[in-house]
Amino acid sequence: MPLVSMRQLLDEAAKGGYGVGAFNVNDMEQIQAIMAAAKETKSPVIVQASRGARAFAEDLYLFKLIQAAAELNPDIPIAMHQDHGNSFETCKSAIELGYTSVMMDGSLKADGKTPATFEENVEVTRKVVDFAHERGVTVEGEIGVLGGVEDGHGAGGSGLEHLTDPDQAVEFAERTGVDALAIAIGTSHGAYKFTKKPDGSVLKMDILIAIHKRLPKTHLVMHGSSSVPKDLQDIINQYGGKLKETWGVPVEEIQLGIRNGVRKINVDTDNRLAITGAIRKVFAETPEKFDPRDYMKPAREAMQKVVAQRMTQFGQAGHAGDYKAISIADMAKGYKDGSLSTKPLVAAK
Ligand code: 13P
Repeated sequence: MPLVSMRQLLDEAAKGGYGVGAFNVNDMEQIQAIMAAAKETKSPVIVQASRGARAFAEDLYLFKLIQAAAELNPDIPIAMHQDHGNSFETCKSAIELGYTSVMMDGSLKADGKTPATFEENVEVTRKVVDFAHERGVTVEGEIGVLGGVEDGHGAGGSGLEHLTDPDQAVEFAERTGVDALAIAIGTSHGAYKFTKKPDGSVLKMDILIAIHKRLPKTHLVMHGSSSVPKDLQDIINQYGGKLKETWGVPVEEIQLGIRNGVRKINVDTDNRLAITGAIRKVFAETPEKFDPRDYMKPAREAMQKVVAQRMTQFGQAGHAGDYKAISIADMAKGYKDGSLSTKPLVAAK
């Protein structure tokens, strides 16, 4: 199937009442792991690349790999998404390369570190929306600021410092016309999210539910949603790693989110942990090996296992064949004629 817009994937997910995992990639093996999991579970997929990933892999290598994935998997809808675009220029370059979706993270200034004002966020996000929709490309915006740092992008901190205000979320959705809205509910990027099993004091599911009540048709996005499973931490530490004890976002909380409007769930860290554990195991158990395939193959398989499990838990499994691709040109027409309006439905308080 040609690459499809993320908007189509999320609209379908809303109809079916499920969520779609958005998995980060930097290289061929990660893309293959995601596609193998999608094939195994018959899932539509969102593949996403951060600025760091685009720089690491070089834009064209990464994009051609995604095109290969689409060609090799004609029955699977795939959206290619820019994760955490820091500026209009970053989003523009992704769109010009052929990405079918971009995130304009205007919650931070272009340095990717300093929190921006609400007005700055609205202005840059609106600019990206105008450019992207004219070309049929989906836009995700962010209101509130996540914790942690990923690939050099992030304000740091605990994730509780700039939680999303539901009234601001409504105003932001109305003024920007984004297709999907990332919100801050206490999660952070990376492995060190929580120092104890998260409960209501650190993971603010009540804020998510309040936003969904006000914006019942808006596709919500949960960032920093790795569950950081203990078994993956243990494998790393068993084979010489030194991870400190940590907790991620429990899958049941994500499922509660999915019942309350969450349609896109970002997962990167769990896959990084799975890959690292598998490689460490080969190095520790068979130190005489030196062919990269001897450790990249188990690494790829370990990631496939995590991705397939998340696809099943998020509910996207079994939905790959539900619909035909709408071309990006037709998406552009839809934005123009209003059939893909992004004017949000706003419910009274
Ligand atoms: P994790 O670090 O929890 O996997 O989050 C990834 C993410 O949100 C990418 O934008």
